[in-house]
Amino acid sequence: MSKSDLIIRPDRRRFLLGASGLVAGASAFRFPTPAIAQGAPLKVGLMLPYSGTFGRLGQFIDNGFRLYAEQQGGKLGGRAIEFVQIDDESKPESATDNMNRLVGRDKVDIVVGTVHSGVAMAMVKVARDTNTMLVIPNAGVNEATGPLCAPHIFRTSFSNWQVCQPMGKVMFDAGHKNVATITWRYAAGQQMVDAFKEGFTAAGGKVVEDLAVPFPEVEFQALITRIATLKPDAVFAFFAGGGAVKFVRDYAAAGLSKSIPLYGAGFLTDGTLQAQGDAAEGIKTTLHYADNLDGATNKTFSEAFLKKTGKEGDIYAVQGYDAAALLDIGLKAVKGDFTARAPMVAAMRAAKIDSPRGPVSFNKGNNPVQDIYLREVRKGQNVKIGVAGKAVDDPARGCRA
Ligand code: BEZ
Repeated sequence: MSKSDLIIRPDRRRFLLGASGLVAGASAFRFPTPAIAQGAPLKVGLMLPYSGTFGRLGQFIDNGFRLYAEQQGGKLGGRAIEFVQIDDESKPESATDNMNRLVGRDKVDIVVGTVHSGVAMAMVKVARDTNTMLVIPNAGVNEATGPLCAPHIFRTSFSNWQVCQPMGKVMFDAGHKNVATITWRYAAGQQMVDAFKEGFTAAGGKVVEDLAVPFPEVEFQALITRIATLKPDAVFAFFAGGGAVKFVRDYAAAGLSKSIPLYGAGFLTDGTLQAQGDAAEGIKTTLHYADNLDGATNKTFSEAFLKKTGKEGDIYAVQGYDAAALLDIGLKAVKGDFTARAPMVAAMRAAKIDSPRGPVSFNKGNNPVQDIYLREVRKGQNVKIGVAGKAVDDPARGCRA
C-alpha cells in the first residue's frame, strides 16, 4: 500500500464512516474523554496537510514524529501508539469538521497538527471546547499560545512573532533603512510581517509598502514588478512550501536578487532549496534551525531521518520529531497513564528538550523558548551565520495561564 493510500481525505472518510458524523459547529459540544484501558494503544490523530502547497511540510512533520516513536520501539512513554491520519489540505473552512471527526468520532486521545495558522485556529477552539490535548508541530498563529493558551495545548515549533521580530534589527543593522514586505494574505503572513515591522521600526527603519497575494496563490509577477518600481533597500518575505519555491525563482528570474536583497522568515528557504537551486543563493533568513548546526543531536537526527526517508531533514521534520519527544516526556512522567492529565501536562511544561535545533524549554503559554538563528543560503544549504536572538521567548500576549 502506498503512503498516500493511508491518508483519509475528508470526502473518503465520510464515505467510510457513514452519515452519522458530527455536523459543522459541533465544537460547542464537550466530547467525553475516551476511557483508556492501561496497555491499550494511545490513539494519536495526525491532522496535517498531505497535499497542496504545504503537502511536503505535513509529510516531513509526519515522518519526524514517526521517526522519534520508532526510536522508542514504536512507543511513547512506554505506551504503544496507533495513528489516525487526516489530510487537512490547509483549508480553514474544513478545519472544524476535520478536528471534530478526529475527536468526536475517531475518539483519538491526542491530536498533533497542523501547518497552516488558519486551520490551527479552528483546531485550538475545538481542543479548548472538548478538553482535547493538542500539540502543534508547526502553525505559528500567535493566539494559540497567547490569548487562547490552555494547559493542554502545546506547540513544538514557534510563534509567528518569535521567528520574525528579531529580523527587524538584523536588516536595519545591515544598512537597510527602507524595506518592502511581501507575503500571503492570511493569519501567518500578516502576523509575521507585523512582527518583522515591530523589530524594524523600533530599530529606526521605514516600511515603504506592504504587498500581499491571497493564500495559496502563486502569481507574483505584478507584485515583483511593483518592487522593481519602488526600489526599496531590501525586501522581507514570508512564503513556505511550494509557494516559496515559486516566489524565490520568480524574484531571481526578474533580475532583482542582486540589486534588492531578499530576506525572510526561514520558511522561505527551508525544505525548498533543491527546487530553488541557484535562485536561493545569498538569501538571508531567521529561523530556529539551520542545516549546519553543531551538536550530536542534530547529527544523529539528520542521519536517522535520511536513512528512514532518503531525504534531508528540515525544520518541519525537527518539529514533528520534537512533538513526539514532548509527548514521550509527558507520558513517561505518568508511566503511560494518559488519564493522569495534570501531572502529564506539568511534566511537559517543565520539559527541557535536547532538540536537533538546540535547547528548548516552554513558556507560560506552552510555546518553545529557543534561539533564533540568522542563516544564509550558501551552496544549497541554510548555513548559520549568527544568532539573531538568544533564548527568544514569545511575549504570550493575552495568555492567562
Ligand atoms: C503558518 O501558517 O503558520 C505557517 C505555514 C508554513 C510555514 C510556517 C508557518
